[in-house]
Amino acid sequence: MPDQTTILFVCLGNICRSPLAQGIFQNLINQNNLTNHYKIDSCGTASYHTGNPPDPRSIQIAALHNIDISTQRARQFDPKTDIEYFDYIIPMDTQNKHDLIKAAAPKQKLHLIRSFDPTTTSPDIPDPYYGGDQGFQQVHQMLQLACQGLLDHCSS
Ligand code: 4NP
Repeated sequence: MPDQTTILFVCLGNICRSPLAQGIFQNLINQNNLTNHYKIDSCGTASYHTGNPPDPRSIQIAALHNIDISTQRARQFDPKTDIEYFDYIIPMDTQNKHDLIKAAAPKQKLHLIRSFDPTTTSPDIPDPYYGGDQGFQQVHQMLQLACQGLLDHCSS
């Protein structure tokens, strides 16, 4: 395992899925006493929500699992700094991955988050923004499995 691994979680708006992924992964790092080994962040491919806190439904589902994501603030992917700094750039869905390729992210750093979930072959975490609370519960469950798989991958 390298001394430190840097990971960037990416969705479209950086208010629903990637903030939750960041919170869940940070919680796993904390529980496993690996805080010195990882630096993580999240961002969106779009800028509509820059500066905003996560969607209240993401804050709520995280809080139900004792994770506080309320202090996160949305930002857009910045090719100038993010491509060099992060070892792993982790899109939530195939569209995010295409948009990151268009923004010059190198393919060898790009891995769909669900590719680390050994229990599924579905590529995408569906966008829950226009749906109800149940969509956020499902996204949380998918992210929990995928984040554990990502941690296992990076820590082995
Ligand atoms: P996210 O969800 O990409 O998981 O943060 C979305 C948030 C906002 C919008 C779309 C998706 N939007 O169109 O504003």
